[in-house]
Amino acid sequence: LITVKELYKNKEQYLGKEVRIGGWVRSIRDSKAFGFIVVNDGSFFEPLQVVYHDTMDNFAEISKLNVGAAIVVRGTLIATPQAKQPFEIQAEEVEVEGASAPDYPLQKKRHSFEYLRTIAHLRPRTNTFQAVFRVRSLVAYAIHKFFQERGFVYVHTPLITGSDCEGAGEMFRVTTLDLENVPKNPDGTVDYTQDFFNKETSLTVSGQLNGETYAQAFRNIYTFGPTFRAENSNTTRHAAEFWMIEPEIAFADLDDDMMLAESMLKYIISYVLEQAPEEMNFFNSFVDKGLLERLNHVVNSDFARVTYTEAIDILDKNNDKFEYKVSWGADLQTEHERYLTEEVYKRPVFVTDYPKDIKAFYMKMNEDNKTVAAVDCLVPGIGEIIGGSQREDDYDKLVARMKEMNLNEADYEFYLDLRKYGSTRHAGFGLGFERCVMYLTGMQNIRDVVPFPRTVNNCEL
Ligand code: 4AD
Ligand code: MG
Repeated sequence: LITVKELYKNKEQYLGKEVRIGGWVRSIRDSKAFGFIVVNDGSFFEPLQVVYHDTMDNFAEISKLNVGAAIVVRGTLIATPQAKQPFEIQAEEVEVEGASAPDYPLQKKRHSFEYLRTIAHLRPRTNTFQAVFRVRSLVAYAIHKFFQERGFVYVHTPLITGSDCEGAGEMFRVTTLDLENVPKNPDGTVDYTQDFFNKETSLTVSGQLNGETYAQAFRNIYTFGPTFRAENSNTTRHAAEFWMIEPEIAFADLDDDMMLAESMLKYIISYVLEQAPEEMNFFNSFVDKGLLERLNHVVNSDFARVTYTEAIDILDKNNDKFEYKVSWGADLQTEHERYLTEEVYKRPVFVTDYPKDIKAFYMKMNEDNKTVAAVDCLVPGIGEIIGGSQREDDYDKLVARMKEMNLNEADYEFYLDLRKYGSTRHAGFGLGFERCVMYLTGMQNIRDVVPFPRTVNNCEL
């Protein structure tokens, strides 16, 4: 079988020749002696029309096909200069691989994204979702390519863990205990020593802590895998299961971290614009009219930089515009992040040096003792896409901070060891993969860039 994309890319080579394609019927109409089928094979969204004739043995069977049927077509590729599409297949044979029932949910009209979410198993057969998931696949490849070309080692960090990296208590517990019959400690708490791992465990919220240990051996590493958060936020940018890319670099500080993040984002954007021009044009026409202009601008300009304290000054002067008023010490909400990146800077912006109280325990304390060497990267249309920091590399300071935050030192012994045996300046960040795909496609809802989304109250399929 050849792909429709290949026919489009190298059309001269195939015109007048016999080709075979396999795909799903998008539409079908017949008259007495012949009929037309539009087929899509998932490689490209330009429709491919197939013309078939009553000289075929199974003409009646073909004519009865419904939208959604799977067929294999053999025939000659013929140029059609007057038609919208440059060619069609004059079929010699149409094999029906699998018929489709008449209640096939995807009909020719445009369906809403909300409706398509209810048929997540069939929505990849629509143009929009084919574009989204081809681009998602390409973005993943671009990210690996970026890091591998720079000698970063890809580390597989565990999904089941005994520590809470972000300290936000948003973990999904992993247990084999029988809920009806949970063993209890004398004080009434659950006795996890009788559980599978002999301790309390959860799905990871981040691979960072494990990643850091490998950065202290390989210098530059990255993780790329699923992470889980039981955040009770029902928004368009939060999922309970999402993928994260977490590079970690040794002998490096926050500046190096930002340079890495900026070159990575620019690389991914350029790569996708180059490798998926049809998909990107499709998004620009049907999903987000300003997309290409915006992305091209990003590739060709420097990201802005502002400290949290400066950002609060700017936001405070505009507080009448926000639902939530900000003041120093408060975390930025999406509306504030979007205001900064969309109204003030009109491009991606790094916000640095957040108050220690709203950030995780592992971030390096600044000299003011009030802020930490943290960085968030905010982008138009989304807000935070990256969160990172320079890490606390001083043993005593880290222990003191963990005490302050009531962390159980025993759970982090391995992590503290790194500060004992050849501690280096080091930094890293986490890129939310889905948010990155949203940013590149202009799609507005995280549920529409994950094949099978898991969000509050939703774990279908
Ligand atoms: O800012 P976060 O929480 O940072 C970390 O997890 C660090 N351990 C990263 C590091 O320094 N190695 O998460 C990083 C990114 C966010 O900027 C966001 O893009 C994404 O992960 N993210 C989510 N994406 C979808 N759904 C959620 N619930 C997300 N939570 C975070
Ligand atoms: Mg964050």
